[in-house]
Amino acid sequence: MLRRFTIMGKFGVLVLLALAVTLMLSLPGSTYTSKYSLRALAQKRGIGFGTAVWVEPLSNDSRYRTVLAQEFNMVTPENEMKFEPTHPERDRYDFTAADTLIDFAKTHNMQVRGHTLVWHESLPDWLTEQTWTREELMSILEQHINTVVGHYRGQLVAWDVVNEAIANNKNALRDTIWLRTIGPEYIEKAFRWAYAADPQARLFYNDYGGEEVGGKSEAIYGMIKDLLQQGVPIHGVGLQMHVSIKNPPNPEKVAANIKRLNDLGLEVQITEMDVKTWDGRGTKQQRLVAQARVYRNMMQVCLEAENCKAFSLWGVSDRYSWIPRIFKKPDAPLIFDDAGRPKPAYNALKEVLKRR
Ligand code: G3I
Repeated sequence: MLRRFTIMGKFGVLVLLALAVTLMLSLPGSTYTSKYSLRALAQKRGIGFGTAVWVEPLSNDSRYRTVLAQEFNMVTPENEMKFEPTHPERDRYDFTAADTLIDFAKTHNMQVRGHTLVWHESLPDWLTEQTWTREELMSILEQHINTVVGHYRGQLVAWDVVNEAIANNKNALRDTIWLRTIGPEYIEKAFRWAYAADPQARLFYNDYGGEEVGGKSEAIYGMIKDLLQQGVPIHGVGLQMHVSIKNPPNPEKVAANIKRLNDLGLEVQITEMDVKTWDGRGTKQQRLVAQARVYRNMMQVCLEAENCKAFSLWGVSDRYSWIPRIFKKPDAPLIFDDAGRPKPAYNALKEVLKRR
């Protein structure tokens, strides 16, 4: 009897030990998961795996820092490198917040994407509350690009030079201060100025809603093709991939869009992926499983495309996602939950990255 109990006891200890090791291996952020982390698996597949980062949680949320350093090898400042934060007054620049993000990235051997030089949002009052001549606004924009890109010269792998310049519901440029005052050539000028300020950085056009062939992506494709024919230094297109489980992106249509951009000689990156669940059907768990499928499908499309070189999310964890703030509804759009714990989408990405 005693002998049987001893064998059972030893077996029990082994089972507990196996469970403990499995738990350690599954928790992101633990030092035991480095070779199984998403960043390590992505590196093995030759792609960057990144996310958008805020300076606030980076400073005051240790779980945020741990998960970020463990699971991602690329960061995009969510807001800190935009026009308003970096150029708050006409003759004053402020790189304090963005430099904090750069320092963290350097410490953790992460690449940095610059975001974004020319956009219709995040513009300071001094710029929008005054009317400018075409020459004045061109001079302001050229100086902005020279100063900001110059400040980070050699430290960034890519810049979102122009963001969301195409109108949503028509094949035309979005009505912005840049288009109204400078004209459509603001786009070409922005890329040429950025290239002059940092010839090493990969220069991207970044937009949402143009992930699949058809619709808005036809306008993006046409504009980029024309610019390339004019010799404008554009190296890639960023597909933001702000999607939902209600209307998930069609993998074949996304793949076809990435392929035709490749035929133009362009790199593609998934730059801001998140997957809304609040407008989906089913239980919370069913919606998280549907979300995991969307992440897995898009990662599969990127891995199968020779010109898809990076896959970035728009936020580290649900707690810091822009979506609940903007849509005023609770949601869980990312791959880590409010507490920084992995969700089904995390495991789905791990599974597809491990597959050969
Ligand atoms: O930091 C200030 C805070 O001090 C102040 O109290 C508060 C009052 O509203 O505003 C805070 O700034 C906000 C900032 O996010 C940081 O939270 C801005 O108002 C708010 O407009 C800003 O929203 C950002 C938005 O871009 C506009 O810049 C979102 O966080 C950011 O996720 C979102 O990201 C964009 C990409 O850049 C481009 N693609 C679409 C994507 C989602 O809209």
